[in-house]
Amino acid sequence: MNDQLVACVLAAGRGKRMRSDIPKVLQPLAHQPLLAHVLDTTATLGVGATVLVYGHGGDAVQAAFPDPALHWAHQAEQLGTGHAVQQAMTAITDQQRVLVLCGDVPLLTAATLQRLCDETPADAVGVLTVHVADPTGYGRIIRSADSAVQRIVEERDATDAERAINEINSGVFVLPAAPLRQWLDALQPENNQGEYYLTDVVAMAVAAGVAVVGVVGDDADEIMGINDRAQLAAAERVYQRRQADALMHAGARLADPARIDVRGTVTVGRDVFIDVNAVLEGTVSLGDGVQIGPNCVIKDAVLGAGTVVHPHSLIDDATLGMNCQIGPFARLRPGSQLADKAKVGNFVEIKKAEIGPGSKVNHLTYIGDATIGTDVNVGAGTITCNYDGANKHRTVIGDGAFIGSGVELVAPVEVGSNATIGAGSTISRPAPADKLTVSRARQTTLDGWQRPKKKEK
Ligand code: UD1
Ligand code: CA
Repeated sequence: MNDQLVACVLAAGRGKRMRSDIPKVLQPLAHQPLLAHVLDTTATLGVGATVLVYGHGGDAVQAAFPDPALHWAHQAEQLGTGHAVQQAMTAITDQQRVLVLCGDVPLLTAATLQRLCDETPADAVGVLTVHVADPTGYGRIIRSADSAVQRIVEERDATDAERAINEINSGVFVLPAAPLRQWLDALQPENNQGEYYLTDVVAMAVAAGVAVVGVVGDDADEIMGINDRAQLAAAERVYQRRQADALMHAGARLADPARIDVRGTVTVGRDVFIDVNAVLEGTVSLGDGVQIGPNCVIKDAVLGAGTVVHPHSLIDDATLGMNCQIGPFARLRPGSQLADKAKVGNFVEIKKAEIGPGSKVNHLTYIGDATIGTDVNVGAGTITCNYDGANKHRTVIGDGAFIGSGVELVAPVEVGSNATIGAGSTISRPAPADKLTVSRARQTTLDGWQRPKKKEK
């Protein structure tokens, strides 16, 4: 933690080019607002304080970040990046160093910011730059013959020769607060856009004899600024590739690192295998040897070692023991708890239910608000009728019970251990242990019955 370092995050812009009703810094990257990624990075870096300059969609932006430790500086009119930083200066003391970040540059890493701060002396100005193949849209870094940074020119104000420069301004600076305050006060909106440009303080620093350090980043992806939806989608891919690389680094095998989406925090054991098109959301933990089939969505779940999820399954807010088998086409809804070696097969929905060790619910079944013991077999097409139109009720099934196919369990109801329920039964009273319980109409055959025939015209 560096108490003297204060992050100033610029987030007042409208983001016109998004063509959206949502403020730009709230646009989602991996299901989190762009700004959340920037704040995560400053938290990792360990800054003494963070000032957010907000303006467009201000209420929504403030509501999205209720952290009381954040300082907010309102920029009523968006008069430029220099004007934006000026709004934050009342929250900053002269002894501090200001780290200027943009709310629309979400892929920067704490390591790169640390490098910028370390390589810039405390009384100097540091600017993070990068060499890119296509500098279009960015400010260009103008260096002298001895390669000292002289100034930054915006594309709209640049000459053809300056536009050909491919070292660009990332928009990230570290500056000593006292002179910065004076430079900001002296900015003039003399440029193509008539705005107060933060980038102009670089030439002011040079003129004042303050050293300007251009720290060249080695990853152009990190400084990607998001101005439109195409850039948002491109940033998402970069972010996802990083997540895929981290999973592989941790020991997972991915069928295709380009076809997995992580929208949260995923931890993996050894030899996990994830097939194509997995979407992993929230907090997900996959134990050793877990296998995830194609097209699965797994959210806020813990999967024990050796558990296999077959294709097209959905798991949401569930805990699974070791060596479970799920799917294909299974849906585990919130509150599903599967013990070791439990099996949930195709077209089965489980909600708020415990499935005991070794129990099987293999086909076309709904189990909701239930407790199922050890080694229970639930036949195809079984339904827990848990809802009476007003309240939910529980179904309890004892160890070793066998539920025939097509059974309706009208809750609240209890099935004793080792009980057998005949197929097609509607069970609304306790079914005792160790016995066969059947409730279905006796089968009859009508002799002499004839199928109706169509009338002849
Ligand atoms: C800016 C830099 C450019 C750099 C690029 C990197 C300036 C003049 N230009 O250009 O050199 O290459 O970033 O991505 O600084 N903002 C405010 N208030 C304002 C104006 C902007 O809060 O009055 C915020 C925006 O919300 C955004 C950030 O500042 O988060 C950058 O503004 P933007 O308009 O996107 O600047 P660029 O044209 O991208
Ligand atoms: Ca921008």
